[in-house]
Amino acid sequence: MTNPTVAAGPRTPLRRGAELAARASRVLPAGVSSDARRGLPEPVYVDHAAGAHLTDVDGNDYVDYVLGQGPMILGHSAPEVVEAVTRQVARGQAYAGQHPLEIEAAELVQAMVPGADLVRFNTVGSEAVVGAWRLARGLTGRQKILKFEGHYHGWLDAALWSLHPPVDAAGPARTPVPVPGSGGQQASAAGDLVLAPWNDLDAFTALLSAHRDEIAAVVMEPLLCNTGCIAPVPGFLEAVRDQTAEAGALLVFDEVITGFRLARGGAQEWFGVVPDLAVYGKAIAGGLPVAAIAGRAEVMDQITAGTVGHAGTFNSNPIGMAATVATLGRLQRDGDELYPRLRSLGERLMSGLRDAAATAGVPMLVDGPGPVFQTYLTSADAVRDYRDFAATDRAGMARLHAALLRRGVNIVPRGLWFLSAAHTDDDVDRTLEVVADIFRDW
Ligand SMILES: Cc1ncc(COP(=O)(O)O)c(C=O)c1O
Repeated sequence: MTNPTVAAGPRTPLRRGAELAARASRVLPAGVSSDARRGLPEPVYVDHAAGAHLTDVDGNDYVDYVLGQGPMILGHSAPEVVEAVTRQVARGQAYAGQHPLEIEAAELVQAMVPGADLVRFNTVGSEAVVGAWRLARGLTGRQKILKFEGHYHGWLDAALWSLHPPVDAAGPARTPVPVPGSGGQQASAAGDLVLAPWNDLDAFTALLSAHRDEIAAVVMEPLLCNTGCIAPVPGFLEAVRDQTAEAGALLVFDEVITGFRLARGGAQEWFGVVPDLAVYGKAIAGGLPVAAIAGRAEVMDQITAGTVGHAGTFNSNPIGMAATVATLGRLQRDGDELYPRLRSLGERLMSGLRDAAATAGVPMLVDGPGPVFQTYLTSADAVRDYRDFAATDRAGMARLHAALLRRGVNIVPRGLWFLSAAHTDDDVDRTLEVVADIFRDW
């Protein structure tokens, strides 16, 4: 069942999918269970997933570059994860008690992540982010969080600000204002935020110094993956690291996407910059809902001392921990071979996409490290921040996403692509054929 190399061809019509979409609209608002899934161009309902492929309820196969929005680093239903979870299910699902697997999982995080002296588990990234902010406020006695425009740190009230705001409501480029991402959001949370543009060191320095004694933490996606795929410009991370330390603020890396994907030690290892705290989710458990906060002993020991609280019914539940040990164990064991292969396959796909666009005269920019990357429809030669991203042809990207989906290639609608250890050269070849076919009539 893994990795069928079905040629790109006409699909079976989505009859069963359309029936399910109608049924869903009567019971689920917008017919979906997360806003990240609303508005898809077609009623693709997944029947099952294996390796790098999805099969829909109408029998169509897709090469999957969404990978559950990132978690499936080993591919869908990786045998070691299935085996570990299956074994654990029969031994109990939620103990609310200590058990050996949580220690093993934390030891793996500690061994793989440079700055992880101590680890606490949560269930999803959104709660781990606000847990990290609480630890930063506890240690510094300060309230404000400096966040970058275009960075995503989950859907909770404190965090859902200025992800993709309308540019005309977002304030000056160098001193953006916080724009809520949702109606009903706690408005007072904006008072605890300082917004900065990504990749503009002078603007960052000025904002940090203007709020010098107020900022508890600077938070970032160290490789920005929720607004294109935008690396920090050379020297940016190092300077932010130095300036936060000097200002007595903590540096928090949101590694919910980059963790265990860019390298064993995530962005910290990839960029060689170690934050005070980092937050993990997605790939940590290869598809099970597990998140973690990991960081410096002095910060984490506030939990030891009982001065900062941290809790959760499902924290370190044994099924999630079994999946974490299986996933991180494989990445730790096979990483020397697995990460270079993930990068080289991603690079081959990226370079094939660039060639296909150049041949067809389609203005497309392809950027990212390989295990994750972005396609932008733009004639610009670089996208450095949210405002650049907002100027790309996002309607065109939605059209490209729909055309890919129709031909059996599933990417994140905004143009983000994830690779897994289960993708093959055949998957890449098939994808490039599909893209060449689409661009012939673009
Ligand atoms: C960088 C980043 N941080 C936090 C989150 C929130 O994680 P979750 O959806 O597990 O709550 C996400 C989710 O996409 C993310 O990409």
